[in-house]
Amino acid sequence: MSAIVIDGFSVAASVRARVAESVGALRSRGVEPCLSVILVGEDPASVSYVTGKAKALAEVGMKDRSIHLPASTSEAELLSLVAGLNADPSVHGILVQLPLPRHIDESKVIMAIDPAKDVDGFHPASVGNMVLERPCFLPCTPHGVLVLLREAGIATKGAHAVVVGRSNIVGKPMSILLSRRDCNATVTVCHTGTRDLASFTRQADILVAAIGKPRAITGDMIKPGAAVIDVGVNRVEDPSAKRGYRLVGDVDFEAACEVASFVTPVPRGVGPMTIAMLMENTLLAATRLSAAGE
Ligand code: GUN
Repeated sequence: MSAIVIDGFSVAASVRARVAESVGALRSRGVEPCLSVILVGEDPASVSYVTGKAKALAEVGMKDRSIHLPASTSEAELLSLVAGLNADPSVHGILVQLPLPRHIDESKVIMAIDPAKDVDGFHPASVGNMVLERPCFLPCTPHGVLVLLREAGIATKGAHAVVVGRSNIVGKPMSILLSRRDCNATVTVCHTGTRDLASFTRQADILVAAIGKPRAITGDMIKPGAAVIDVGVNRVEDPSAKRGYRLVGDVDFEAACEVASFVTPVPRGVGPMTIAMLMENTLLAATRLSAAGE
C-alpha cells in the first residue's frame, strides 16, 4: 500500500488566503487586526516558530507587534508587559511563546493573559470552554489537525482515535476535541505511563503522534489503512544538510507510507497548520473585540 500524503502546506495556504480576505474587510471598516507574539530568550525552535508567525502575519495583512526579550527577563517584567498588552485596545491577540526560561512560572503568565485575547487557547477559561463545548479560541495545533482530517475527507465519527502524548499544547486538547460531539470519535490517550504502547496504536483508525521523539512510531505500530497524523518536529543531526540538521517527525514516515492510508509529512504537514489557525484565531479576536467596542 502507498498512503496518500496530506499536504498541510497547501491546506494552510488556503486557510491563510481566506483569513487575508476577511482581514481586508475588517481593515475597510477601520480595524487593523494585530497580534503580539512575545519571545523570551533564544531557544532555536522557538525563534524559528516566531519567524514563521511574522511571515504569516505579513502575508494575511495583520499588524505584527512582536516583542523579543532577553532570557534574563524577570517574571514580574513579563507579567507587566502582558498587563500592558491586555489594556491596549490596538492589540487583539497575545501569544507568549513556550517554553519560557526556567525562572518564569509559565502557568502564571498564561493566566495573566486576557481570555478575550488568548489566541493560543491556553488560558484555563479557554480550556474550560473547550471542554464544555462552548465558543472559545481552539488551540492552534489540534485545531489544525482537525482541519487537515476534514480536508482529507477522513471521518472522525465513530473512529477509534489514539492520541500519543498528553501535553497541554497538543495531546490533551487533541484528545478532548476528538471526543467532542462534533467529532464523535472514541478516544484513547497514551502517555509515558502507558504499558505496551503498540497494542494501543495498532487499534487506531486515526493515530495522532505528539510524543517529541524522532521516529518513535514504527510501521509495525500502525493499523493497516489508518490515518497517521504526525505532530512531532524533531531536529536530528545531518552533516549532509546545509544547517547541519534536518527535521523529522515522531513517525517513521517511509514505513508509515507502506501501511497507512493517509500520512502527514514533516515538514509541510501539521506545522504550517498551527500558524494558519493562529491567524484565524487572531482574526476572530479582532472581529469580536472590535464589535464589542462599537
Ligand atoms: N511552543 C510550541 N508550540 C506552541 C504554541 O502553539 N503556542 C505557544 N505559545 N508556544 C508554543
